[in-house]
Amino acid sequence: MLTIIEALPRIRLGFFPTPLMEARHLSSVLGGPRIIIKREDLSGLALGGNKCRKLEFILAEAKRQGADAVISTASSQSNFCLQLAAAGRKLGMKPSFVLVKGAHVETQGNLLLHDILDSDVEILEISKIEDIFSGVVSERMDGVADDLRAKGYKPFIMRHTLPDISAILGIVGWVDAADELVTQLKEQNIEAHYVVLANGGGGTQAGLFLGSKYLEARYQVIGISVLRNRDDAIPAVVAQAEAASDYLRLDIAVKSDEVEVNDSYIGKGYGIPTKESVDAIRLVAQTEGIFLDPVYTGKAMAGLIDLVKKGCFKSMETVVFIHTGGIPALFAYHEEITNRGSNKRH
Ligand SMILES: Cc1ncc(COP(=O)(O)O)c(C=O)c1O
Repeated sequence: MLTIIEALPRIRLGFFPTPLMEARHLSSVLGGPRIIIKREDLSGLALGGNKCRKLEFILAEAKRQGADAVISTASSQSNFCLQLAAAGRKLGMKPSFVLVKGAHVETQGNLLLHDILDSDVEILEISKIEDIFSGVVSERMDGVADDLRAKGYKPFIMRHTLPDISAILGIVGWVDAADELVTQLKEQNIEAHYVVLANGGGGTQAGLFLGSKYLEARYQVIGISVLRNRDDAIPAVVAQAEAASDYLRLDIAVKSDEVEVNDSYIGKGYGIPTKESVDAIRLVAQTEGIFLDPVYTGKAMAGLIDLVKKGCFKSMETVVFIHTGGIPALFAYHEEITNRGSNKRH
């Protein structure tokens, strides 16, 4: 492990390293490169996903500050908020959320799990999901914090934007993941050429990119955007990678032209499955017995499949696909999944 990360406060919440799984059947059906899936969906906290690593550092900071309640925001089926609620409960911290209305607000998927966890959830209606980072949501979180303080709690608000310490520590979690991946590849004698993953806010890609660059990994990291266009997503990754580099004193400069984000697979917008993403979810389930999610990994896999079809990878090359989790949302999206895509058996 990078010694500087080893020295940071951390609360263990997951089971690491997450496995690398050879997706032989998928590779052969696609007639493409060797595909290896990093099973971050098996990270162990609640129903798994990429937030567990982030939260190990963020919640250590919250505890260090003496917090006994956590507050955050994201879309109504947010995997981050669900994982935070579960970790909060485990650590004896009351979870409260100001969520923003997305495609699904019924008590299904992650909202069903919040119900079981007894999270305090309120759902705001705002026009664009990007406004999650804006004043109105932030102000409402401050209001929830005031209410909690009045009841004797010491709340910790987790914001997703720089320079908030939670945003930086989340990226640090993924610098650590790069270290884990590089070690696994070496131990298993795998030469990876590409690493493909979903890009939402971009913190996961930023951390993975930064850690991989610092460790001089030879693979290229490709983010498949589910939210922003390339022109916005790349600067967001660069800014987050630089912030984490400064925080960890890695002295790594990150240039825009080193960061690859493909925005061709967003479809109609964040949280709206495309036909190709539903097909990708079915293909991976029917070839590998693995469930992807409808908001992030389904679209990232649709991107990977299309890039394979376009001949972007040689058959001798190896692609690592990071399964970043999100599976609970599948149940909220049952209609889109049953009505869209082709139901072929592979
Ligand atoms: C399942 C899943 N995959 C990928 C991502 C993307 O992570 P990031 O926002 O760090 O780009 C998220 C973020 O919410 C997620 O829930």
